[in-house]
Order: sequence, then C-alpha cells, then structure tokens
Amino acid sequence: MSFPSTRLRRMRRTPQLRRLTRETDLSVAHLVFPLFVQAKRGAKDPIASMPGQYRWSLDLLPTLAREVELLGIPAVMLFGLPERKDEEGSEAYSSEGIVQKAVRTIKDAAPSLLVLTDTCLDEYTTHGHCGVVRDGQVDNDATLEVLSLIAVSQAGAGADMVAPSDMMDGRVQAIRQALDCNGMTQVGIMAYSAKYASAFFGPFRDAADCAPQFGDRKSYQMDAGNRREAMREVAQDVAEGADIIMVKPALPYLDIIREVRDAIDAPLAAYNVSGEYAMLKAAARQGWLDEESSVREVLTSIRRAGADIILTYHACEAARWLHEWNHG
Ligand code: PBG
Repeated sequence: MSFPSTRLRRMRRTPQLRRLTRETDLSVAHLVFPLFVQAKRGAKDPIASMPGQYRWSLDLLPTLAREVELLGIPAVMLFGLPERKDEEGSEAYSSEGIVQKAVRTIKDAAPSLLVLTDTCLDEYTTHGHCGVVRDGQVDNDATLEVLSLIAVSQAGAGADMVAPSDMMDGRVQAIRQALDCNGMTQVGIMAYSAKYASAFFGPFRDAADCAPQFGDRKSYQMDAGNRREAMREVAQDVAEGADIIMVKPALPYLDIIREVRDAIDAPLAAYNVSGEYAMLKAAARQGWLDEESSVREVLTSIRRAGADIILTYHACEAARWLHEWNHG
C-alpha cells in the first residue's frame, strides 16, 4: 500500500475526480441566514463592521424573505433592535415587539421559509446583559421566567424554532415546559449550547447595540479554554429537550464541533459569527484574500468538523456561488 502503486494525486487529477471523491458536501440546505430587524421604517441601514449586512426595516422584509427563499436557504435567524430598551427588556416578550412583527411579516411573505428567533434579553435591556440583573449580578432563575415568556411570545407570532443564546442553566427545560403548557409542542428549540465568551461577537454587538454596559459576559458564557465543559453543556441541553444544539463561535472552536459531533446524535449547528465574517470581509476588501474561495473553505471546514447546519452571514452569497462550487 505504498508508493509507487499508491498515488494519492491520481484522484485529484480533474475537477470531476475531485468532485467524485470529495468527502464533505456543502449545500444551501445547510445554511441559516441571520438577520437584524429594526423598528425604523423604510430603511436598510448598513452595519459598518459587517460589510454587506444591514439592519432591515419591517417593510423591506417581504422582498428580502422571498429572495432568501428563492435562493433555497431554508431558514433565517432573527435578531431585533427594539424601539426602546428598559431594565427588564420587556419588548422582547411583547406581541407587538419588533421580532414578533418581523416573524409575522416574513411568514406572510414567504410561508415556506423557516423562521428562527434569538431568544435572549441583551438587545432589549438598558444594561445589555443576557438576563435579569439583580444586585449587579445576572440572576439565573429569574431569567428563566423571562426567557419562557419570550419564547412563548415568539412562537405565538409564528416562529418555527426558538434559539436561547443566554447560557443560563436550565433554560432549555424551562422553555420546553412553557411552550408545551401553551400547546406549542411543535415549536423546536435550537440551543446555543456551547457558547464561549468571545471577542468575535464584537461586530454583532455594534450591529445589535447590545454591548454590556458594565462587566462582561464571562459569568455566563464559557471560558475559551474549556472542552470537557462544552460536552457537559451539550449533554445537559439534549437531556432538557433541545432539538438542535449549537457550538458558537465556529472557527476558533472547530475542535469542539468535532468532539460534540462524535459524542452526540442530535443535529448540530455551528455559528460562523460576526467577527469571523468581519475579518474575512476586511481582508477581502484589502485584496489580501480571495473572498469567494475563502468563504467556501471556511464553510467547508465547519461542515468537515461535523456541523450539520451553519449559521452564516455569508449565506446569500454562498447560495449564489454554490452551484458553481458543486460543479467545479
Ligand atoms: C446574544 C447573542 C450574541 C450573538 C448572538 N446572540 C451576542 C453576545 O452573546 O454577545 C453573537 C452573534 C455574532 O457575533 O454573530 N443575544
């Protein structure tokens, strides 16, 4: 089994051979497009640190949703920029909240597009933390009650799946119970299970205006050095009823994606986050990287690591490129 009878280059000779023997497949069916919706009317405001991404007003969503649907992207993940924030983040669970309105608008315009909603408080609170703040601390159990309200309200607006991104202990169970008590047994939970306290969320916090006003998120998001703890987080979310689990960010945590894939049978998502997008875009704009082939390689690496689903701001461009990729 060695040279010269074995020549691994033989199967790399032509595009057809390479396609035939490629181990990792990348298709639009795996992509979720995250998008930001804002209360302001008639505007598509560019996000400076995320070139090509916008804060969308509700009236522009029908056209956008139909475009995403036509591209074959199965799902969007919604983040809301509310009209006003308060200490409790009450717009997050209002039936007239920005995300609830956006869900209804998208479902009207593009009924087959799956709508996932970020179930969290940080975009809605004046303090910018992902939970209820009591005595300067994020109170886990008080937050569970609010998260349940948010999930039920988003599901009531028509969300197919809710996606808690707060990292409180017990949130999947609390949300599952709340949904079930309200007869929403068909609404799924995509849990941000292993979410690390990451600098790569920086551009997102500009986009969603949700940087914490004091301290940081290290008392609830995971420490970058931890691998075994990620497995405990994931196992716990599966036990609590998560339908899909997630590792986030993706690129600095490909080893975690692989380890989770090997240990757990539930569908696995990975979030190619704002900072990963921003750094690729920035280098491409400088002419330092070829954008299309870099995006392809990044998405392939996340699939190869074991993710079934990739949340990525590159989704629309990748969808346009994918036909070429899969035939070239
Ligand atoms: C919290 C949330 C964040 C992201 C998704 N949900 C920010 C945070 O935890 O600070 C980050 C996504 C990204 O960076 O693309 N609601």
